[in-house]
Amino acid sequence: MSLITFVSHRGSPGVTSTALAVGGAWPASSNRRKLIVEVDPAGGVLALRLGLAEDPGLVSLAAAARHGLAREDLWEHAQVVPGGLAVVPSPSSIAVASQLLATSSAAIGPWLAELGDVDVIADAGRLAPQSPASPLIDASDLVVMVARPVVDQLHSAAAQLVALRDRGVRAGWCLSGDGAYDSTAVESAYGIPVLGTLPSDARGASLLFSAAATRRLTRTPLVRAASSLANHLATWLTDREGEDVAHVASGRPADEAVVDSGSAGARA
Ligand SMILES: Nc1ncnc2c1ncn2[C@@H]1O[C@H](COP(=O)(O)OP(=O)(O)OP(=O)(O)O)[C@@H](O)[C@H]1O
Ligand SMILES: [Mg+2]
Repeated sequence: MSLITFVSHRGSPGVTSTALAVGGAWPASSNRRKLIVEVDPAGGVLALRLGLAEDPGLVSLAAAARHGLAREDLWEHAQVVPGGLAVVPSPSSIAVASQLLATSSAAIGPWLAELGDVDVIADAGRLAPQSPASPLIDASDLVVMVARPVVDQLHSAAAQLVALRDRGVRAGWCLSGDGAYDSTAVESAYGIPVLGTLPSDARGASLLFSAAATRRLTRTPLVRAASSLANHLATWLTDREGEDVAHVASGRPADEAVVDSGSAGARA
């Protein structure tokens, strides 16, 4: 159905945690399955954090991409954790992961976006102009930039989001944790929609991976907020195919974009 890709710009604002929490909470049904795919050029952590092998995963998927990807082979590249989540983990080595993505992301990205009955939640790590994951990021139905609402994370990330949106990729912010700015201030300052906000929840973040590995996600404040974001995005992606994301957070139509607010509403 859709490829939703989470990225960051600098620091480690919680992209992997957010992708896992949103992926875990993503609504699935008999005709709408979900898959978490790790495509971070800096190397993966999901195998280590969830107690999985490194292969099958990105290694086998990238190898298959050399000969042409087949829809019916998708699940051969995934591992299912005891909690039920299906994951395509990446090798932890930066050299291996970046090389795999450099050779395969142009094939894998559009293929994942066209799977029909599967929603793919991808963790592409840091977004950089020369990222080997760029072709996959550009093929996404939606790119979610995770950032702490502090100026040094927001400011240069905004330029990357603008560049993405200028290329026709639908993209917006997910503000994670505490900072100086609320979503109104961020939208006003940068003209880019905030798709969701997640609380600072160190306990919830630390429980996330052990919970995901073994059972349903614990209802921490982080998981509750991620669940609301997941449902919101899944509904929007189903109902509003083709529209810009400007109205996602507000529910307003795209031509009444939420980014026209003049208030700078900085939070203490
Ligand atoms: N909402 C949150 N509140 C508090 N702590 C968080 C939150 N999200 C993530 N963390 C913590 O922040 C740290 C980094 O998280 P994570 O690995 O998800 O970030 P990342 O952006 O993927 O990092 P990297 O750049 O290394 O890939 C972890 O210790 C995690 O538990
Ligand atoms: Mg990460």
